[in-house]
Amino acid sequence: MERSTQRIARPESCRLSQPARDENDEESTDRHVLLECLGALWAAGVAVDWKRASDQLEPFGTRRRLPLPTYSFDGHRCWPDDQPAGLTLPRQPGERERHREAVFTYAQTWTEKMLPRAAPGGGSAKALRWLVLADRPFGEAERAEDMLANSITRQLEDAGHEVVRVCRRAKPSNSSVKIKGSTIFIDPTREGLKAFFDAEIASVRPADRILCLWHLSGTADPCEDPGMVQTHLLRSYDAILDLARVLSTLALQTPVDLWIVGDKSVQVDEEPVDPEKACVFGPAIVLPQENPMVDCRVVDLNIDDPNIGYQLGAEIGRDVPGADAIVALRGNRRWGPHFSEVALASQISGRETLRSKGVYLITAALGRIGLSLTEYLVSLGATVVAITRPSVPDHLSSGRADLDEDGWTRRLAALDGSKGQVVLRQGDVSDFDSLSGALDSTVREFGRIDGIFHAAGLADLKFLSEMKDTTSAGEFASKLVGISNVYRAIQRLQSTHGQSPEFVFLFSSLASILGGPAMAAHAAANRFMDAFARQVQGKLGVRWINSNWDDWDYSYDEQVTAAYRTRQAEDLALSSDEGINIIKRILATIDNGQVIVATRPFPPRVRQWVDQVRIITPDEQPDEQNRSPPEEVRTGKDEVLRHGDPRSIFLDEVKNLLGAEEIGLDDNFFDVGGDSLLAAELQAHLTKSDRWRSPQLDEIIGAATFGDLYERICSGDHSSR
Ligand SMILES: NC(=O)c1ccc[n+]([C@@H]2O[C@H](COP(=O)([O-])OP(=O)(O)OC[C@H]3O[C@@H](n4cnc5c(N)ncnc54)[C@H](OP(=O)(O)O)[C@@H]3O)[C@@H](O)[C@H]2O)c1
Repeated sequence: MERSTQRIARPESCRLSQPARDENDEESTDRHVLLECLGALWAAGVAVDWKRASDQLEPFGTRRRLPLPTYSFDGHRCWPDDQPAGLTLPRQPGERERHREAVFTYAQTWTEKMLPRAAPGGGSAKALRWLVLADRPFGEAERAEDMLANSITRQLEDAGHEVVRVCRRAKPSNSSVKIKGSTIFIDPTREGLKAFFDAEIASVRPADRILCLWHLSGTADPCEDPGMVQTHLLRSYDAILDLARVLSTLALQTPVDLWIVGDKSVQVDEEPVDPEKACVFGPAIVLPQENPMVDCRVVDLNIDDPNIGYQLGAEIGRDVPGADAIVALRGNRRWGPHFSEVALASQISGRETLRSKGVYLITAALGRIGLSLTEYLVSLGATVVAITRPSVPDHLSSGRADLDEDGWTRRLAALDGSKGQVVLRQGDVSDFDSLSGALDSTVREFGRIDGIFHAAGLADLKFLSEMKDTTSAGEFASKLVGISNVYRAIQRLQSTHGQSPEFVFLFSSLASILGGPAMAAHAAANRFMDAFARQVQGKLGVRWINSNWDDWDYSYDEQVTAAYRTRQAEDLALSSDEGINIIKRILATIDNGQVIVATRPFPPRVRQWVDQVRIITPDEQPDEQNRSPPEEVRTGKDEVLRHGDPRSIFLDEVKNLLGAEEIGLDDNFFDVGGDSLLAAELQAHLTKSDRWRSPQLDEIIGAATFGDLYERICSGDHSSR
């Protein structure tokens, strides 16, 4: 046992004293003792190889993943009831008690931020190893994103960094990773990505920084119908999710900075936004929460902006990355999300926004919020058409409920004497026909729909490492597909009945902004809704109101509640009466747009959980003494070409073209198999690079050696072109 614990803790020399073992105690299993030893070592500051620890612990018992309440990381104390005496969890900085019934409401806008200063003298204080994840090797520039990748590579290399381009192949091949000069080709699968990163962290010098430009672009047809989910745009989400799933499991020894670059995935101004692209924020925000060794930031830009390469270079090229986790670059301006408080109007008697004779349709009306809302509206005298996935028993579809049954049927039955009525309709919001049919039959039966509350949602919480390929689809069905179907169903209602509801009220979550462990897909789905609500503002003559909620005070799964429910969670959450009251006030205040509803001040929570405020250890301080100026690298030994050296890149172009690894700067073009056709091809290849001027054909043919050709095209006025 002792040997086993020492193998999985570093340093090897650490002495271990095991807690006394009581044979009669059920808890005194080998696994338990081993865990205690590891915990003691870890608390004493010893680095534990947790992966190996979990591998070795597996034979001693099955690991259990305990589901936690949502936002468990945020001020909720989650600990089993039988917590060891005397153990208290320290309060997080910025964590606050909720003042009685305090509610904070915000709108999200964008505020202009300072532009970063370019690195002094064009050089960087510390030479870093960068991975640029782009679809094409350096030099190729078919699309705007290739040009951006090339521009960034040049800037980083000019600043003295080593840059490795990582390209995904079109299809998997026999070897999942293939290196060609400073380009690494990997399989376009998660396995390919994993094989690459495993090799990367095992290497002598793993990457310090990663820039992800994969699937950067992709624009919707401007007249595209918002009701149609543009699945091709979800490729960006898939790419980032794969990356996050792989990086979340890596046992990194030193932190790595990751920038994910998006193209118009947020709406800074009145520009159009494609909600599908906004989904990348889910995994991007959650990744550092699940693996704090990865600092992840999102830089959103407009790829068509001239000079965007230099803007991006200044953003990512700082010696110490900025604290903002999310920035948007537009033209010469830099923006960050901002949360300004909005005051909600009080309800004025006689001017209620929810009418006693109103007709309201609620998707997921038997969910927790849906049922509270149904009860309120029916007690008000309204008609609620309650859409629910499970099949509706006959005696309920007319609104009658059997008093002997439990749960929602009991609660609906209790409404029997109310002024209003509830009508149950079976329907799945991800199925357009069933949803559209429900809207249609409501109008036929009751003459109109005053408002739709879209409360369908699925919180299938899975850590990135546990996610399956189907996890996101489940989350997306209710929100992403669901809200698109609501839009289309209203379109159809307009064409068949010539009418539409006054408002659509969407229930999104704070997870779309704060993320949260195990919430990558959930945050992505809610982020989609947030962007969708912006995209459709003012469309179809409907008020589109989107609300992002903090926790409501509902019991979580029964057995979890018993063990984990704490007074603090209850204190922090909104009661359903509070929630319903806020819904009414939102409807009375907001015409169109988004409201964030939080039970504690929100901006400090964003800073705490989203903005990456890295603590810079002395090791990470830019070290002027060790500064290696780019010139030093370039004037090093001619024979040893450093990875990333422009001559090495030049030679790689030649090697790739001629298919021979052994070619050196002293070789002659014709001696290594060149001919006039290949000379023309080489000319075309070299012309794509900005590092040197384009060679004339006769220069390639006439040069004594490749070194000679390189000197020629880099010399004279053109050399710094
Ligand atoms: N409660 C909170 O604290 C909180 C906080 C922030 C945001 N929200 C959001 O508010 C909304 C309501 O929350 P809640 O707590 O009431 O959730 P809930 O109790 O989990 O209810 C969600 C309901 O959505 C239904 N649903 C899922 N997929 C559906 C589909 N494709 N078609 C029709 N119905 C579907 C589920 O029906 P089945 O029973 O058939 O699965 C379930 O009844 C959710 O969107 C949630 O994300 C809630």
